[in-house]
Amino acid sequence: MSIGTDILERVAELGRHSDSPDHYTRVYLSAAHRAAARRIAAWMEEAGMRVRVDPVGSVIGRYDAAAPDAKTLLMGSHFDSVRNGGKYDGVLGILVPIACVTELRRRGERLPVAIEIAAFADEEGARFSTSFLASRALIGRFDRGALERRDADGVSLAEAMRSAGLDPARIEAARVDPESLAAYVEVHIEQGPVLLDAGHALGVVTSIAAGLRHTVRVKGEAGHAGTVPMPRRRDALAAAAEMVLAIEKRCSATPSLVGTVGILRVKDGSSNVIPGEVELTVDIRAADGKTHLAAQEDVFAACEAIAKRRGVALEHTKTHEVKAVPCSPRLQDAIARAIERTVGGRALRLPSGAGHDAMVLAEVTDVGMMFVRCGAGGVSHNPAETVTPEDADAAAKALLGFLRDFEIGSPPARG
Ligand code: HGY
Ligand code: MN
Ligand code: MN
Repeated sequence: MSIGTDILERVAELGRHSDSPDHYTRVYLSAAHRAAARRIAAWMEEAGMRVRVDPVGSVIGRYDAAAPDAKTLLMGSHFDSVRNGGKYDGVLGILVPIACVTELRRRGERLPVAIEIAAFADEEGARFSTSFLASRALIGRFDRGALERRDADGVSLAEAMRSAGLDPARIEAARVDPESLAAYVEVHIEQGPVLLDAGHALGVVTSIAAGLRHTVRVKGEAGHAGTVPMPRRRDALAAAAEMVLAIEKRCSATPSLVGTVGILRVKDGSSNVIPGEVELTVDIRAADGKTHLAAQEDVFAACEAIAKRRGVALEHTKTHEVKAVPCSPRLQDAIARAIERTVGGRALRLPSGAGHDAMVLAEVTDVGMMFVRCGAGGVSHNPAETVTPEDADAAAKALLGFLRDFEIGSPPARG
């Protein structure tokens, strides 16, 4: 049995811890999420790690260094998911490092650094729109205002934490001292077709795209579908539909820019009622901040103009913003060397359009990322997401090689 087959068997097992019997969805602190946390903790213990659950529910395993006062190389990714998503997103970045620690322990090897693997409890923010909640808590920058956010059932984040046995008053205790960290390295599926098209199993991430997310509310006037003449309507959904196309048009104007409306809800919708109120989400990404902020400005100017012409009101709240992050050149080179020693050839370097916990850790330490090829055309955030056992095996071997050669560089002074 290869390490890669083992890893994918565990991905499949974790994929069965889902909030829905029909598809894979695992939102923060659901029963399935807590069961997955317990399973990951058990695997970390089997690998010889000491395990703790931090105040926001992340599961963190530690494999000590040869020396007691060594710095810590933090690795990991998230084990929550989007709705009806793919089961490799996040999870692979937890299971590949666990497989590496299992191998180090089997050989009785200790490294110059301690290893910690963080299974982050909430990165997608699917339940409370709280992207990167867990990694933000780990660096001590959790936004306490998020505790009031409510899920679709009206449960607040604070209430959900208490029901899961977590104490919101202790969140600050999740903070890890950045001085103790040598670096953060995340293994993640590429979630795109670049490695697949180029015939590479693994890749080195050069930078991670900037992300912005807004919740937008459009308020018109509900009315009778049969009696209100068209010219007199203030149809919130028709206005929102025009805004969706305006967002698509503006975000198609620049190569590295993308824009997505992922959620569009009609409040109290009925087939014979003119929609009075609509809520939608806007997600804008770009490789650089300038493109990003210009697009955000233009998108909301276009929406304001549509709202004015149609006589509807427009409100928008920013729920997420993260700057574009460069990955550490020294970590990029070290990951590239490990990949080249494992699979031969020249390692491919590529930017990430998806956001990752590494963007948050970059605020306090050097970060590096290794991408693993996605099959099925590179699709992700989709149940068709897939990885081959051979590529999972290559990722584990390359990461093990990276760990063995890892040198504690002096991280740049942090602003
Ligand atoms: O949205 C993202 O890029 C990630 O999946 N959280
Ligand atoms: Mn994701
Ligand atoms: Mn992810």
